[in-house]
Amino acid sequence: MDNLFDIYRQKTPSSESLFKRAREVMPGGISHNVHFFPPYPFFLKRAKGSKIWDVDGNEYVDLWMGHYTHILGHHPDVIVEAVQRQAKEGIHWGIVFEKQVEWAELIQELVPSAEMVRFCCSGTEATMYAVRLARAYTGKKIILKIAGGWHGANADLTVGIKAPYEKEESLGLFPELRQYTKIIFFNDPSKSLEIIEQNKKDLAGIILEPVIGEGGFIPATTEYLKVLRSETDRLGALLIFDEV
Ligand SMILES: Cc1ncc(COP(=O)(O)O)c(C=O)c1O
Repeated sequence: MDNLFDIYRQKTPSSESLFKRAREVMPGGISHNVHFFPPYPFFLKRAKGSKIWDVDGNEYVDLWMGHYTHILGHHPDVIVEAVQRQAKEGIHWGIVFEKQVEWAELIQELVPSAEMVRFCCSGTEATMYAVRLARAYTGKKIILKIAGGWHGANADLTVGIKAPYEKEESLGLFPELRQYTKIIFFNDPSKSLEIIEQNKKDLAGIILEPVIGEGGFIPATTEYLKVLRSETDRLGALLIFDEV
């Protein structure tokens, strides 16, 4: 590993000095926790299609794609033109407008199970609302999440993200959090069923990424999803799929 870090440092001197500068003005040198990796993240200069280039000119195939949001690659012409067109009209009106409704209708057409659509500014915000909705709808408190599952900076779900899962993920969280947010194990129906059973009286919902991202890019098995679906139906809890 040391050797790998040495090679990385040799190839990324400009990123190293940018990171030193960044640490002077941003806590930890980043403004999103997942953007840090040791010994320091490389800084991007350019991105196009499937590729990214850092400030030292290293080229990478981007498997991260803006938290997986750039499903058409980095800024394809069709997106650039649409953004430019809209920028002339305004991009943050802070008041509702027709295109929002059109977009929600289009999403509904493409994803028929999306009976209602709520637009959010981040994945963190979306999972915060989803958890709140589950608690409001059921009148119950407990949320089960996957060990290793990442749902953003949402305090409600800042439990069991990195092994060892019993360890606190961050300072500044309520100690009561673990009473209401507990972990189950991905693709392990029997262990998950045990934990669901233990929490069934106060279960508001189960949240998971159907393809777990930070936890290792692993798809859920159909059997596992069916178990979670039928258990949440049986207990009147919500099953929440989080895909950013
Ligand atoms: C599955 C999932 N949920 C939530 C989030 C948080 O999204 P954001 O960084 O926009 O808050 C991410 C971010 O990568 C994610 O992958």
